[in-house]
Amino acid sequence: MSGCADTTGRLDWVSHPAGPLSGTLTVPGDKSVSHRALMLAALAGGDSRISGFLEGEDTRATAAVLAQLGVAIETPAPGERLVHGVGLHGLRGTDRPLDCGNAGTGMRLLTGLLAGQAFDATLVGDESLSRRPMRRVTEPLASMGARIGSREGLPPLHVRGGQRLRGIRYELPVASAQVKSALLLAGLYAEGATEVIEPHPTRDYTERMLAAFGWPIEFAPGRARLTGGHALRATDVQVPADFSSAAFFLVAASLVPGSDLLLRAVGLNPRRTGLLQALRLMGADIEVIDERESGGEPVADLRVRHAPLHGIELPQALVPDMIDEFPVLFVAAAAARGHTVVRGAAELRVKESDRIASMATGLRALGVQVEEAPDGALIHGGGLAAGAIESHGDHRVAMSFAVAGLVTKGGVRIGDCRNVATSFPGFMELANGCGFALEGI
Ligand code: S3P
Repeated sequence: MSGCADTTGRLDWVSHPAGPLSGTLTVPGDKSVSHRALMLAALAGGDSRISGFLEGEDTRATAAVLAQLGVAIETPAPGERLVHGVGLHGLRGTDRPLDCGNAGTGMRLLTGLLAGQAFDATLVGDESLSRRPMRRVTEPLASMGARIGSREGLPPLHVRGGQRLRGIRYELPVASAQVKSALLLAGLYAEGATEVIEPHPTRDYTERMLAAFGWPIEFAPGRARLTGGHALRATDVQVPADFSSAAFFLVAASLVPGSDLLLRAVGLNPRRTGLLQALRLMGADIEVIDERESGGEPVADLRVRHAPLHGIELPQALVPDMIDEFPVLFVAAAAARGHTVVRGAAELRVKESDRIASMATGLRALGVQVEEAPDGALIHGGGLAAGAIESHGDHRVAMSFAVAGLVTKGGVRIGDCRNVATSFPGFMELANGCGFALEGI
């Protein structure tokens, strides 16, 4: 990433007003799919090739953890991994802590996977991950027979090996693909059936990928069930471009007059595309072109052209399908005409930062009136002024304010953008290539 970090590793950006945005872009590979592909390939018998792998810090942390557990992973080219699977019982323990970096997905899924191993393991993360709630996985895993120690529900997590797991039927209190996936991964090692019921359907990559790796699994929106004691067969995985990364460009091109952008081969799993629907409700002009399947996932090219946006009352049914896109939706709402109401999104408070607070504080610093609620916000649209904001070390907050800078008069200074590399390496170069004016300072 361009720009110079100071000795503390801090990197600030300034996003200047610019545009129109134009050109054809391919955003990096999907983060959720990349994490899962590594884990299932590691537990499979034989070699699996992953193409379109996200070269982000989060997914590289998961690869490093698996390598520490004895899995040989080659990088034949950037965005590719060749994983020499060790089989379901082939991982080896290590005395050193396993560092998941900033990745909640990495830590929660690995906790499920490690609960069924013969050896003890300790999972650690960075400052942000160390503040994220883990009881949502450790409690149901404990009822499967796992023994996991934590610092009052926070990382580090000490996973005891050698436990006999038994399948459970678990109704998730809060919709979460990470929790569902952790239980399913533990379920591979459990006696009997593990069944997960969700209050709202969430992304089903774990279920689809388990099936692709040959594990018998029944699933439908909101429900998944498998039994332990089978084997995973090595399989090649094609990772689609990450809709959550495309989201910044969908909003940016919608906001900047004269823009016309084409985003190639974006993953359109229906559990991820809530923002597309929300933006359309706000008046956006987004065309879905050449819908096709790639690696078992729906993908399409997305053409987005500038259109005047207006505020909406966001249908709550869309919330789980756009959970990572709220920071950039808040920016769209601030720039739109009229006000936007978001409710039913309390989960935003326990992401990489408290995203309701991070966005509300940042938008207020840019002159936007925002009323916070415990589970959302009321955002008064009408435009943004120049100013300085903090990302709170949150990659999606940083990129969202980079989008905001495009439509201010004097630009936005964004504090602490280093973590953009966790999910979107090369964001600055790609953004500047299509018309942003983003610089590191
Ligand atoms: C993810 C699930 C979501 C999402 C996260 C990735 C996944 O988290 O916010 O970025 O890959 O399963 P929750 O399961 O906490 O909703």
